[in-house]
Amino acid sequence: MLIRLVLLLVCQVSLYNLVTSSKVCGRPPKVANAHVQDEIQVYEPGQEIVYQCNTGYKMTAGSRKNICKATGTWPNPTIKCSPKMCSYPGPLVNGHVLFSSLDFQATINFTCQEGYILHGHNNSECQHDSTWSNPLPVCQPVTCSLPETPRHGLIKHHTKLTGNTTHYGDTVGYECSSPHVLFGNEVGFCQANGNWTDTPECKLVTCPPPTDIENGFMSFAILRNHGYGEKIRYGCHPNYVLDGSMEIQCEKTGNWSSKPVCRASCIISVKKARIFYNGKKIWLDDLPERRVQHTDMVAFYCKDKDRDCGYPSLTQCVDGNLIIPSCFKEPSGYTYKLNYWNLPSEIKQC
Ligand SMILES: *[C@@H]1O[C@H](CO)[C@@H](O)[C@H](O)[C@H]1NC(C)=O
Ligand SMILES: *[C@@H]1O[C@H](CO)[C@@H](O)[C@H](O)[C@H]1NC(C)=O
Ligand SMILES: *[C@@H]1O[C@H](CO)[C@@H](O)[C@H](O)[C@H]1NC(C)=O
Ligand SMILES: *[C@@H]1O[C@H](CO)[C@@H](O)[C@H](O)[C@H]1NC(C)=O
Ligand SMILES: *[C@@H]1O[C@H](CO)[C@@H](O)[C@H](O)[C@H]1NC(C)=O
Repeated sequence: MLIRLVLLLVCQVSLYNLVTSSKVCGRPPKVANAHVQDEIQVYEPGQEIVYQCNTGYKMTAGSRKNICKATGTWPNPTIKCSPKMCSYPGPLVNGHVLFSSLDFQATINFTCQEGYILHGHNNSECQHDSTWSNPLPVCQPVTCSLPETPRHGLIKHHTKLTGNTTHYGDTVGYECSSPHVLFGNEVGFCQANGNWTDTPECKLVTCPPPTDIENGFMSFAILRNHGYGEKIRYGCHPNYVLDGSMEIQCEKTGNWSSKPVCRASCIISVKKARIFYNGKKIWLDDLPERRVQHTDMVAFYCKDKDRDCGYPSLTQCVDGNLIIPSCFKEPSGYTYKLNYWNLPSEIKQC
């Protein structure tokens, strides 16, 4: 009995020694985004623990298990837990999905393009079960009322308009009933602010009776007001040349387009000369009335005394004025008639 008691005592003491003298493991090492199942303070060598990824995370590498070593230490845990992902919820028609990450707990934002209004939530969060907290919103176009019809005009429907509302981006074309003329936008559209662009105006345009031009005449000269787009023609009297457009038109402003001007021809003031005109060298006596037309170019011949040669000097008829080049000397009647081979136009040219 005593022996038994002693043995028991020895056994208990040795057992006690065994437990206290051998090493134990403390709390297991921390792992990012994971925890230990049923964690306790102290683990004995050989005791196994199981790591579990936190909600919203999934195991992507390593092993869940870890065993307390006889030395009382934990091997480095190998488990890796990465956030779960949500799938891209887009595209958002007429809008944008803004995100920097699609991971668990990430928030994405929704915006609509100009002219569209967001119906629904403007953001959404990726949940632990890889679903979004909010569904994709809808971007609905801004609505406008029906476009106004201009007085004395009509609307050509470009995009089909139904009911009492129109939508952002709808367009119409305007037309004025003749003889009214359109002022403003020919095409209108429903704007992002919910208003149509300005309705054009249809106005009557009249131009006053056209006026005469100097040294010319008007064709179909009926002295009355004219409507937009009507045309009048002008002509010039003989020996005058039309400068500008032959036709004028009644414009939107109620003014006529600019009238042409009749420019006078020129009578060459000298009588005795040979000139270069219209590609030919001619004697002035052979030029009827010694007349050239407005803008015509005429060359007179001058003499270079030093080099004893002749050269042409150009001048132009401008609305009745033709300036004789200053180097030109009108010859005497004798030289012109009987000694003409000595004229600058006939001698060797420089
Ligand atoms: C979403 O919007 C919030 C505030 O409105 C902002 O702080 C955040 O940066 C936005 N996120 C993204 C991804 O645009
Ligand atoms: C989302 O809507 C809230 C109000 O509902 C607003 O305060 C917030 O600025 C909006 N965020 C974005 C990114 O538009
Ligand atoms: C348009 O509005 C008028 C009154 O403002 C109403 O009588 C008519 O029924 C509406 N038409 C449609 C198609 O909604
Ligand atoms: C829309 O048109 C109305 C009437 O012409 C005007 O009062 C309002 O300011 C306009 N709205 C915007 C956003 O321009
Ligand atoms: C055109 O008509 C306007 C008035 O309709 C007037 O103010 C303007 O001076 C005119 N322009 C010319 C070039 O005659």
